[in-house]
Amino acid sequence: MSILENPTLETVPVTLGTRSYNILIGRGVLAEAGPRIAALFPKARVAIITDTHVEGLHAAALETTLADAGVASTRIIIPAGEPSKSYAGFVHVCDSLLAARIERGDVVLALGGGVVGDLAGFAAASLRRGVAFVQCPTSLLAQVDSSVGGKTGINSSHGKNLIGAFHQPALVLADTALLDTLPMREFRAGYAEVVKYGLIDNPDFFNWCEANATRIFGPGPERDYAVAVSCRAKAAIVARDEREEGDRALLNLGHTFGHALERIVAYDGARLVHGEAVAIGLALAYRFSHYLGHCPGQDATRVSMHLQTLGLPTRLQDVPGGCGTTAGLVEAMAQDKKVVRGSLTFILAHGIGRSFIAKGVEVAQVEAFLDAEFAAQSA
Ligand SMILES: NC(=O)c1ccc[n+]([C@@H]2O[C@H](COP(=O)([O-])OP(=O)(O)OC[C@H]3O[C@@H](n4cnc5c(N)ncnc54)[C@H](O)[C@@H]3O)[C@@H](O)[C@H]2O)c1
Ligand SMILES: [Zn+2]
Repeated sequence: MSILENPTLETVPVTLGTRSYNILIGRGVLAEAGPRIAALFPKARVAIITDTHVEGLHAAALETTLADAGVASTRIIIPAGEPSKSYAGFVHVCDSLLAARIERGDVVLALGGGVVGDLAGFAAASLRRGVAFVQCPTSLLAQVDSSVGGKTGINSSHGKNLIGAFHQPALVLADTALLDTLPMREFRAGYAEVVKYGLIDNPDFFNWCEANATRIFGPGPERDYAVAVSCRAKAAIVARDEREEGDRALLNLGHTFGHALERIVAYDGARLVHGEAVAIGLALAYRFSHYLGHCPGQDATRVSMHLQTLGLPTRLQDVPGGCGTTAGLVEAMAQDKKVVRGSLTFILAHGIGRSFIAKGVEVAQVEAFLDAEFAAQSA
């Protein structure tokens, strides 16, 4: 049997016409990168973009499979952490790709978390007006979210992800064994994006998460299952709405509040990493939905309880060093790209697994809700 027919892998297709691709999920799939890339891109050279944490852990294994398949590669390293998703990081990666003489027919490969994926993808979209891109996500967040769907980009001082491009990968290899080395805090943070899929439109998956979440953190089949369900959910939404003109916005559940919190802490990962901000954002989105009369209070409580059980933050007061004031948070939300002509768009919910897009939410309602949240903390 050819390695390309490995039956232990889960394959999730992302159906986007000529830009369709497969996500391969399972322990050990990284070892197949060489033959798979050689099959897709004969004669291509591969530029591996990775970060200072992942490089020492997993780059050698990737280079071995590429070399064994006769694929030449070069390694470009960025400092680990969100600040690399910047103009300076972009310049560094693009100049390194040009210095390595990566051409139109070559491949840019992201080996890392969402920071590496977003930055490398944007560089791949821009270099020589677009070169092929392969994702080898190494964080849980990247495996279930950022490596799928083709959004790439960098942050600006005006906000997160404001500069970027849609550039679909040609292949995603999600090796769940790589998560064995992921720090627990990052694992938990990525889990917020996993449970998000249950909350968006899959109440059965949320129930499953409540019963099985702790096993996802271990190396067993539950982890692979959770990654596969998440990728299938994201692939389905992306296939319906690649450019976020409609349904894709549902993926932003928890992110309007979450991005505002990240902005308030100036993207300081020591205080709050993306998934932690999303966890607080999910809890707030459900409490806000209840506050506005859309969602039963017990569902909002269930969401918070579940996140708390796993050690995730759920309240404004959980942000180390605090998160300012209602006015500051609303100002931070108003900077978000989901603001359209002064009115705020939120993803709210009628209950677990019943999210919806709420356009034109009045700022006064948000302010009153946040005032109540701050007051509840100090009570
Ligand atoms: N493009 C999208 O659709 C999309 C979706 C969601 C999030 N994002 C972006 O993703 C980013 C967050 O991604 P992230 O949480 O993966 O952050 P990250 O890339 O910073 O990775 C988190 C940390 O874990 C380390 N790490 C990664 N894999 C590891 C491994 N296997 N072993 C040991 N350490 C490892 C990294 O070096 C880093 O320190 C944010 O910038 C966010 O905006 C993008
Ligand atoms: Zn996210």
